[in-house]
Amino acid sequence: MLTAITRGVSPLLAQCELTWLDREPIDVGLAVAQHDAYERALAEAGARVVALPALEGYPDCVFVEDPALVLDEIAVITTMGAASRRGERDSLAEALAPFRPVMRMNGPGKLEGGDVMRIGRALFVGLSHRTDADGIAELSALSVPYSYEVIAVPLVNCLHLKSACTFLGDGTVLINPEWVDAGAIGEYRFLAVHPTEAGAANALRVGSTVLMPSAYPRTAASLREHGFAVRELNLSELLKAESGVTCSSLVFEA
Ligand code: GLY
Repeated sequence: MLTAITRGVSPLLAQCELTWLDREPIDVGLAVAQHDAYERALAEAGARVVALPALEGYPDCVFVEDPALVLDEIAVITTMGAASRRGERDSLAEALAPFRPVMRMNGPGKLEGGDVMRIGRALFVGLSHRTDADGIAELSALSVPYSYEVIAVPLVNCLHLKSACTFLGDGTVLINPEWVDAGAIGEYRFLAVHPTEAGAANALRVGSTVLMPSAYPRTAASLREHGFAVRELNLSELLKAESGVTCSSLVFEA
């Protein structure tokens, strides 16, 4: 079955890392309520939710996608580009241990899970402020023995590769072509975000449901026209922390 690991919201969320966004006031109580609704949506889409407690001293701890990558055979604990977040890793490694052998990046490179878009056995990895060529080489060394192919993808003007594009299943990639070149990804059906909704390319397919922030209604409507079952969630406070729907869970078969 599908399992989704999540983690609670830190009371320090408003002190989160920001790279491309200006800091805005965040209502942490509302963020907690929005995250609760996100967890319910994961469950209603068919995932068993394993909810970890917040790491209170880590403002970005709710964004569990970044410290780890879960493949079919192994879990990889990453060397995050955001040094302030590296203390999030050990408890996540413990949480993943019942599900996969856990391997750790320990070379000079850096990599965050938000930069990894998996399609089949291909791992597309964004070259971003948080992920570098050494980190990509290290992920290759860990995953190629399990028959994955690792492909580096340049991107601009956004935090992670999955800010710029996400795989929706059915051969389809949702993309902001201003941030990443579809040609670097390959032969898929690309659906572009609405031009007024730059942040809309981060969507999360769980079972037959595509979760999206309600901030992007035009892109959601387009996906529905293309046959996807879209569920929109109000994630206003978490979006201010430079996140999307993929950032707050690790979803895998277990
Ligand atoms: N605030 C999300 C991150 O920068 O990791």
